[in-house]
Amino acid sequence: MCEQSGDYMTKPTKEVKRYTITAALPYANGPVHIGHLAGVYVPADIYVRYLRLKKKDVIFICGSDEHGVPITIKARQEGVSPQQIVDKYHAIIKKAFSDFDISFDIYSRTSNAIHHQTASDFFRTLFEKGEFIVKTQQQLYDEEQKQFLADRYVVGTCPRCSNEKAYGDQCENCGTSLSPTDLINPRSVLSGNLPVLKETKHWFLPLDKYSKWLSKWILEDHKDDWKTNVYGQCKSWLDHGLQPRAVTRDLDWGVQVPLEEAIGKVLYVWFDAPIGYISATREWAELRNQQLEASGKTEKVNWVPYWKDKDTKLIHFIGKDNIVFHCIVFPGMLKAEGSYILPDNVPANEFLNLEGAKISTSRNWAVWLHEYLQDFPGQQDVLRYVLTANAPETKDNDFTWKDFQTRNNSELLAIFGNFVNRTMVLTLKYFDGKVPDKQELTETDREVISQISSFPAKIEQSLEQYRFREALTELMNLARLGNKYLTETEPWKLFKTDENRVRTILNISLQVCANLAILSQPFLPVSSRKLLGMLNLAEPGWNEAGSTALLKAGHQLNQPALLFERIEDDAISKQVEKLHSTKQANSEEAPEANPSKPEITYEDFAKMDIRTGTILEAEKVAKTQKLLKLKIDIGIDKRTIVSGIAEFFKPEDLIGKQICMLVNLAPRNIRGTDSHGMILTVEDAAGTLYLISPTEVVNNGSEIK
Ligand code: 2FM
Ligand code: ZN
Repeated sequence: MCEQSGDYMTKPTKEVKRYTITAALPYANGPVHIGHLAGVYVPADIYVRYLRLKKKDVIFICGSDEHGVPITIKARQEGVSPQQIVDKYHAIIKKAFSDFDISFDIYSRTSNAIHHQTASDFFRTLFEKGEFIVKTQQQLYDEEQKQFLADRYVVGTCPRCSNEKAYGDQCENCGTSLSPTDLINPRSVLSGNLPVLKETKHWFLPLDKYSKWLSKWILEDHKDDWKTNVYGQCKSWLDHGLQPRAVTRDLDWGVQVPLEEAIGKVLYVWFDAPIGYISATREWAELRNQQLEASGKTEKVNWVPYWKDKDTKLIHFIGKDNIVFHCIVFPGMLKAEGSYILPDNVPANEFLNLEGAKISTSRNWAVWLHEYLQDFPGQQDVLRYVLTANAPETKDNDFTWKDFQTRNNSELLAIFGNFVNRTMVLTLKYFDGKVPDKQELTETDREVISQISSFPAKIEQSLEQYRFREALTELMNLARLGNKYLTETEPWKLFKTDENRVRTILNISLQVCANLAILSQPFLPVSSRKLLGMLNLAEPGWNEAGSTALLKAGHQLNQPALLFERIEDDAISKQVEKLHSTKQANSEEAPEANPSKPEITYEDFAKMDIRTGTILEAEKVAKTQKLLKLKIDIGIDKRTIVSGIAEFFKPEDLIGKQICMLVNLAPRNIRGTDSHGMILTVEDAAGTLYLISPTEVVNNGSEIK
């Protein structure tokens, strides 16, 4: 059984005229890895391929997100222009998606003129409708570089969890969304200098104005059909109260704000990027119409109904870090504009880890798609299979090379591939590759035929609810059914004595193969094409699956070939070693100890009241990855604190531990809980946290001096 059974989505799906499916636009500042595929692009592609097989009118939209500070920072680091960075990575990403058969109708880019025009027009419409508020504010400014420090141009200490490497837009330790001026001890990423405050004017989307509407739309209308993780994050944002969000920035890379009074300002990347879905659809229509015209056709496609007709289902496939932007901010923008439809669903996935640690581009802790294909050429489907079977649909999951090997060798190869191969080879041997006709049916045959007919609906139901793991499990159950049938009926022992029986068994087994060929298309596009070729079947549609008359008696099959290859231990060891070297390199490259902070007096130090305490209770803070709520006996009282250590300690392992704690830190409210102090930890070069405890147990409340 899949972990998520019964977890979400019980609402029946509504029939619509067409589908607009979007997959998050990846930032063009680095290549894509398995986390991207598992979280967004493979599930989106499975869903789209399924819809196409159902003969639905569907467009699948994606492209590179080419604006934003991470791109300009990367350009500075490499000493090239932002355009050079996005050109390079757009090409790499586009190729990786195409190599993995992600079947976008268009893979566009936000540096295209059509996007600049669309985003600019969208802004103007909102501006003319009076949907923005304008505020003049003090913002951080680097005097040496003569630049405002938007978003990731500034780092500092997170006011919530004290992480010293929080960015100006977000603390990656506790997940809090921040403004640069929220940071304690801010430093310019450009020069390392302390920024000054300088006045600047910006345009804000008053999201608070849409709170009531968003609450109804999400918390009531989508209570039963949005995934629990998505719904929960939205509820938390709405419960905390929405604030106006700045949609412009003082930067020179991005879409120019189309106002005289805003020269030198650009749209915030999270304002222009989702509009990228619309611009890409427009571009798709333009290109398609050019193709139609060139081939002498008079028909035309139109992008408008895909975004404006109520009979269109809009679905955004994203990762969990994008939930607020797709469920709250972008719908707020669409609502403010007024002429667009809203997403019907946003089936966001959680994150995929790699061998027990978070995937990290900067630490090269990733399986890069282009490198995978160098090491496993032609084996796209294996990775698609493993990433779907282990997709982080309801919680973060771990990718391990061992699991990759087992799933290939013991599932794809031993179950699916082996069944197809046995059936094809026996048919070739006994009947020269011609489909034999069914003879008298036994009870077992009837039971198998009846079971075959139930698979399309089962798989369909899971796909309609975005439960791709469950759908894949059902597909494999069909292969298991075929395998069991062959193993139990043993046609290879019967040919000499009962040829008619063998005819029936192989006919039914071949019908299972044909069903596998249809139903596996969304998941394993390369292998299903190969299987259709072997069966000499022209592409049948989804609605033909379930039948046991897909291959007529006498139909000539093509030569069998192996669908999957065994993956040997040394191929896996090579990958594990590669990661081991990365770990090694990371620890060698890890920065030396940080430089000393400015001098302080003894009086400064003496202001800190640091004492020993014992952890009495520990629990995870709901809907956070990193936070634990702890109750601590500090001798003078028992108090609650919230600490960002959940990634490193299990709550049950902490109970009874003696720790050191700063007890006179001003209380702070962290995710709805007042935290009265801070436990002391030490962080090693790899970013792992350890507790600081006295070497012997002492009385709680003992002072550290
Ligand atoms: O998180 C990201 O990689 C973003 N570039 C996703 C943008 S999705 C959309 F809004 F364009
Ligand atoms: Zn934080």
